[in-house]
Amino acid sequence: PVPIWLDCDTGHDDAFAILLAAYHPDVKLLGISTIYGNAPLSHTTINTLAILKATGREDIPVYSGASQPFCRPVALAPDIHGESGLDGTTCLPTPDQKARSDNTAVEAMYKALSSEDAGTPWLVCTGALTNAALMFAVHPEMAAHVGGLTHMGGAIGNGFSDAPMGALKGRENEDGRFGNWTKFAEFNVYIDPESASSIFNNTVLAAKITICPLDLTHQLLATSQIQQDLLNGYQMGRGGAGPSKVRKLFVEILTFFAQTYADVFGLVEGPPLHDPLAVAAAFLPAIFEDNGGERFGIEVVTDGLHGSSDHVRESGSQCGRTVATHLPAGQQGVRIPRGVDQMQMWK
Ligand code: BDR
Ligand code: CA
Repeated sequence: PVPIWLDCDTGHDDAFAILLAAYHPDVKLLGISTIYGNAPLSHTTINTLAILKATGREDIPVYSGASQPFCRPVALAPDIHGESGLDGTTCLPTPDQKARSDNTAVEAMYKALSSEDAGTPWLVCTGALTNAALMFAVHPEMAAHVGGLTHMGGAIGNGFSDAPMGALKGRENEDGRFGNWTKFAEFNVYIDPESASSIFNNTVLAAKITICPLDLTHQLLATSQIQQDLLNGYQMGRGGAGPSKVRKLFVEILTFFAQTYADVFGLVEGPPLHDPLAVAAAFLPAIFEDNGGERFGIEVVTDGLHGSSDHVRESGSQCGRTVATHLPAGQQGVRIPRGVDQMQMWK
């Protein structure tokens, strides 16, 4: 199994990332660090512990990480994930465990990754990159040690792939790109662009990074058929097992997420399950089209208006924009898969 440390801001799609990482036989989940994002840190930490309790994996250590970015005010996403970060279900248990206090999240992540053989452990980030940036800043040698880093983040756009955008088509900016926080920027990069920039521009790490931007994650829509199959236990190799409390939990999570995506984005086909793709990228890289090995340099725009108000979001600010530049063959850079084998993913 691939040793993975998961860093997440547990909201609806992060919950599925935890499920995949905690249950797939090809993953050895070393631990989880939490981060602000979909909701304040205290909520994302409780949500993480609750999902682990619901899925019977309270043995996984959880550490509470950054509560804010280095040099920005915190931006949260209650319109998508509710005030708790995981609204919409009555099946979420109250966790028995607390986040561990024997170490900081960054040091726990470092310790777990460095205990694995060089070249084998992966860091999977499904929220802002603050914890990850801090870990590589304090322990720069880890860039050479890890097997790779995957991140759900970035808005690369329609000009880059033929991804089906559903109702999001039409929200593109003039370059054919689209974001979900502003028209240029994806949420996880937008909320801490400086950390994202430090990760994508780490010259030792860059060639080991796979990012899953919106045009990729919008290929994995949890349609009503998928939701029904999940409730009935047809997914995840448990053919026809019938409804159970934990399946009901995950279906309720999806139902809420589907409603906010319909309300906020007009995406009625089903919500995109962004975050599990970043987990899959670490241990199942073959389910992605590899663009013939294409590699990219990524520049993160860090100037321009920044904030949560509609005024800022509609201002045309390019802050948080990810500008991907195709690198000549042989040059080291970030991998950005273009397509995903959906059926493989749902299995
Ligand atoms: C990302 O932002 C969060 O709301 C989701 O959990 C996902 O990680 C999508 O832009
Ligand atoms: Ca997330």
